This record gives sequence, C-alpha cells and structure tokens, in this order.
Amino acid sequence: VFEPLTPERAKQLGAYYTPDPAVTFMIQWAVRETNLVIDPSYGDGVFLKKTSAQVKNPREQIYGIEFDPITFQNYEAVLRNDYKIFNLWNGDFFDSDGFFNNHFGPKIPVESFDAVVGNPPFIRYQTFKGSQRAKALERAKQLNVEISEHASSWAPFLIHAVSLIKKGGRLAMVTPAELSYAGYAHNVLKFLLSEFATLSILTFQKRLFPNLGEDTFILLGENRGQSTQHLNLFDVENETHLEKFAGKKCLNHIGKVEVLTQVEIDKLRSGKVRLIEYLINPHVRTVYKQSAKNESVKTFGSEADVSIGYVTGDNNFFHVSEQEIKTYRLSKKYLQPCVRRSNNLPGLFLKEDDWENSGEEKRWLIRIPSHISFNGLPKGLQKYLHTDNEQTLKRFKVKSREPWYSVPHIKIGDAFLTYMSHEGARLVHNVLELPAPNSLHVVNLKKMMYGQPYIKLFIVAWYTSLTFLSAEIEGHSLGGGMLKLEPSELRNVLIALPKNLTKTEVNKAYKQIDQRLRVRDIEGALDIGDQFILEKGLSYSRSECNLLRQGYRFLRDRRMNR
Ligand SMILES: C[S@@+](CC[C@H](N)C(=O)[O-])C[C@H]1O[C@@H](n2cnc3c(N)ncnc32)[C@H](O)[C@@H]1O
Repeated sequence: VFEPLTPERAKQLGAYYTPDPAVTFMIQWAVRETNLVIDPSYGDGVFLKKTSAQVKNPREQIYGIEFDPITFQNYEAVLRNDYKIFNLWNGDFFDSDGFFNNHFGPKIPVESFDAVVGNPPFIRYQTFKGSQRAKALERAKQLNVEISEHASSWAPFLIHAVSLIKKGGRLAMVTPAELSYAGYAHNVLKFLLSEFATLSILTFQKRLFPNLGEDTFILLGENRGQSTQHLNLFDVENETHLEKFAGKKCLNHIGKVEVLTQVEIDKLRSGKVRLIEYLINPHVRTVYKQSAKNESVKTFGSEADVSIGYVTGDNNFFHVSEQEIKTYRLSKKYLQPCVRRSNNLPGLFLKEDDWENSGEEKRWLIRIPSHISFNGLPKGLQKYLHTDNEQTLKRFKVKSREPWYSVPHIKIGDAFLTYMSHEGARLVHNVLELPAPNSLHVVNLKKMMYGQPYIKLFIVAWYTSLTFLSAEIEGHSLGGGMLKLEPSELRNVLIALPKNLTKTEVNKAYKQIDQRLRVRDIEGALDIGDQFILEKGLSYSRSECNLLRQGYRFLRDRRMNR
C-alpha cells in the first residue's frame, strides 16, 4: 500500500523530487557507454527509472540507496517489476561499508561507478544531527575535506558521492545555490575542482524548484581522476531548454556559457564576488568592474553606518493609535512619532503628510526612558500597559528586557533604507528626524565628505543604475522574488560620489528624484540620478549608463520572474 510522506517527514528527509526535464537531461549527459550507475538517495526512483531505459542490463548495472523505509517500500515493487532494478538498498548512504560489502552481494569496490546521479537530501545542520551527521563529517574528513559544523547534509553527501566514481566517470547532481557562496561550501567547491577534468554549474533563470526557498543548480563533473583550474557556468533560461542538449557532445546549446578562471573561482570561494555577477552580460560587467575601481565610487559601508531599527517585541502593542491615545488619555510626553514601514516612505525625503497619505492609521511609539519606574508613569499609561500585559508580552520576549516597557536602542538616522523590495531598495532622507523599527534599516553618514556635510548628495547618489545593479548583485532574492539586503550586504553596495557637482545641481536632482519616486517611477528616478551622478559627476557616457541599467534590469527581472 502506498503511504505518502507527511510534509514534516518530507522536510526532515529533504525529500523534494526532481522535475522530469532535469532528470532526462542529467541521465542523457551522465549515462553514456556506461557500465555501473548509482543514485545514492533515490526517493521515488525517477533517476533510476530513466537510467533503466538507457542501459543494456538494468538488473546488473543500476544501483540505488534510499534511507527512508516508507519511501523505500512505496517504490520498491515498481522499480523491480517494471524497471528491472534489483540492486536497491534501504539504508543510510553514509553506511557505505554496509551496502558495498554486505548487501550488494558480490563485493563491489568503492570506486566502481561510471556515473553517480541524483539529488541529495538538503537537511539543515539544526536537523541533520546525531550519529548520521558524525558519520557524514567523518567520511568527508577521510577524503581530506574539512567541513564545518554548519554544513547542511548535501555537502558531505556530495563529497561521499564523488568518491564512488571510478576514473574517467561522471557526476550529475542537483545542488543548492549555497555551493557558490556558503562559508562551509568553499572546501566542497575546491574538492570538486580537484576531482574532475571538467566541472560545470548550470544556473536557471526560472527556478528548478519554484516552491523551495533556496535556489538550486545542476552540477556536472566529467572525467574523474584529473583536476581543473576552470569552472564553466551555463545560464539556462528554464528547464525545457535542457532538451536542446539531446545527448550531444557539448553543452553549448542549452544556455549562455561563462568560463571562470582560478582567480575568479578564488574570489567566489572567499566571498568577494557573487556568482550572479558572472551571469550578467560581459560588457555590463566590464563597466561595473571599472566603476568599482573609480576613486569616486565607494562602498556604502565605507561612507555610512548601517543598523537595524529598534525592536519592540510587539509592534502592535508598543505603537498606539489615535483612538488608544484618547481612550487611555495618553500624554504626548511618552509618545514618539515614528516611521513604521516602507509604505510610510513614498518619496526621497520624509514629509509631514507622508504619514497621513500612506493609507494606514497613524501610530505613535511608546517611548519610556529606562530609569522611569512603573509607578512613576502617568495613570493612563499604566492602565494601557496593563491591558494586555503578561500573557501577550511573554510571547514576545519583552520580559528579558529591564524594564520591559522601555524599548531600547531607539536611534535617529540620517536616512532609512527599505531593505525588502520588488523593484529595488530605496534610500530616504530622514529630514523629520524620526526613529524606525526593524522593518527598516537605519543609515548614518560616518563623516563629512569633501569638507562638508553631503547627506543630500549621498541620498541622490543612491539612485543610479550602478547602485541598483550593485544592490542586485550583493543582496539576495527571497522565495516570492523580493530583493532583501541584510546590513552586511548593504555595506558592500557601490555608490558613486562625485566631487564636482554644485549645491544647486544636487538640489535639483534631489527634487526631481523625489517627484519620480512619489509616482512610483523608479526608472525615472534612475534616469535623473544617472544623468547627474554618473554622466555629469563621473563623466560616464550614455552608453555606459545604459549598460549598467541593462544589468540592473536583467537581474531584477530574473529575480522577479522566478
Ligand atoms: C532530494 S530527495 C531526492 C529524491 C530523488 N532522487 C529525486 O531527485 O526525485 C532526497 C532523498 O534522500 C533521502 N535520504 C535522506 N537522507 C539519506 C541518507 N542518509 N541516505 C540515503 N538517502 C537519504 C530522502 O528520503 C529523499 O528521498
């Protein structure tokens, strides 16, 4: 009887099954005049089934391992009866001795597979624990790969999988995008380069697994036993483009290729460059790289401090409405106007009536200095704080704060940054000097530039194609296509700060950009920024600006269409 996995169990096992076009392509590519093939975590057996049509003798040539007993039972009969696949083992892939020496009858030496194919389980380190984890890290260590405690299961899985391949053999595996940037993945990439004569990563403009939070690649290793100094990147529009390969010798038909040199791979591994940078048009990249070297182009973090806004523990409770102010007769003494979220910020700078026009109720932050005792508070406020008190507040960890009703770290920044956005993050001048909670980043300029405060120039300078492209490269996209910029990512974003603009010019650009933003015309705002900052300020040509814009649009659309 077929027993479906519950969603919780599927998550625990990292059981997400690979879409058909990807499997077909991977089998076509990996299984050639092949003798033995293995999928070390076969799940529903989709890789094994496809392989069975591709080899002469499935019974002898195909092997599969699956850890989960229910999954194993669900598919065992079909795989045996309909696909003639008999070398199936229900066990932990990291118990390799178990299956190689005992289970699969005539002992097969470890390095005997011509192809290893599949999609390893993605289980985060918080769940991937105990003896399984210990075995996995030990196996990686035996193969001279140190991986940290934070590694997800796929990393040691991949390493172990490579060790089963015989000289000249191939690997075709799905991997999470973390392979290109996670700290613990650096050694995995290094290991892969030292194991294969050719190594390729396929990236997808439309996600392979649209429902997973994490982006995925297909990894192809060819000719085990040699090493390479290069990494081939293929950018594939969507999975159906994989059909263009159709068993051909080379992969050039499936998408745009970029070859990374050792220097570039090192930059990738050390986190200095993000893989996504290599996916943009080479002409765009040239202008982008040159910009980074321009003496008037800085990183955001070298010019400004970035921090998160205050944390109340319960935003609804600590932000009171006009109605609540009336009901409890709250005195303004302990109420602070604030900006609560990005839709309170329609323009380039904050205006009094932005609040009213934002379409939501005006609210004040309850701001009580920590030295004021509860009994010292006005009666109305005491009553309000007691309304909801214990049960609600317990949930929000406010209790660990002393005193719990005093929200700490309320900072006033020079500007706000909307760090979750669709079209791109906006930097907004905080002319009203209001604080904001952690739904916005708080930005403070570090110093005077060129001998004078330059906040307006800094704000205007955010709105260029250069900065918007840079934010796409440094930030990361969330499941629904939003761009998110963590403070650490924001610090790396490039911003052009020319010395030669007059005050009048900066003011003019400031006003014009504000107008564009207020009608939600981001590209219109960028046109003005490009014209003042890049063309006038840095003497960029129109075509250089256009290239940067093209790069921004490409990455933005890629992120939003996934
Ligand atoms: C991402 S799914 C891949 C399934 C299938 N190959 C596919 O791509 O459609 C990962 C599979 O690995 C199995 N698994 C998890 N840990 C394992 C382990 N230690 N050894 C073998 N299989 C494991 C899970 O039960 C799940 O079926």
